[in-house]
Amino acid sequence: MGKGKLERFEENKQFANVFEPTIKELKDGYLKKGVWCEQIFQKKGLITLELGCGKGEYTVGLARLYPNRNFIGVDIKGARLWRGAKTAIEDNLHNAVFLRTHIGNLPDVFGKDEVSEIWLPCPDPQMKRARKRLTGSFFLRRFGAFED
Ligand SMILES: C[S@@+](CC[C@H](N)C(=O)[O-])C[C@H]1O[C@@H](n2cnc3c(N)ncnc32)[C@H](O)[C@@H]1O
Repeated sequence: MGKGKLERFEENKQFANVFEPTIKELKDGYLKKGVWCEQIFQKKGLITLELGCGKGEYTVGLARLYPNRNFIGVDIKGARLWRGAKTAIEDNLHNAVFLRTHIGNLPDVFGKDEVSEIWLPCPDPQMKRARKRLTGSFFLRRFGAFED
């Protein structure tokens, strides 16, 4: 039988490739902002984000295909991104990590020009809740707003 949500949440806390910034950490100035390549990936390279990564299939798949690039899967659902994080660990992929946060927080997580590419595969269309739609103007403005 697969692991339950609570077990996955606990494992996420132990995984070196999962980051779950608290609201306080973001408010005080997130220490990884601006230093993802140097401190987390420990190699220079372009960062690609997969937003709403779910189980992280694209993040893991792209990391396998492009070992010289760095990939970060972002999702609010910890039990889903656990799958991608676990696969990345099992496959020894050092260029794929996962960030559990609301996508609206991204300007507090990444510095200006730190992210070179954003993937948004198969987002939920949210037909009745435009403010939750990841391709809507609220989020698109946030994606362009990563600051120093
Ligand atoms: C339809 S699924 C797509 C999953 C994946 N991209 C794929 O193609 O299989 C949408 C994902 O976006 C995540 N999501 C939606 N709104 C979000 C937000 N504001 N912040 C973080 N994740 C969000 C959901 O938790 C969900 O896992």
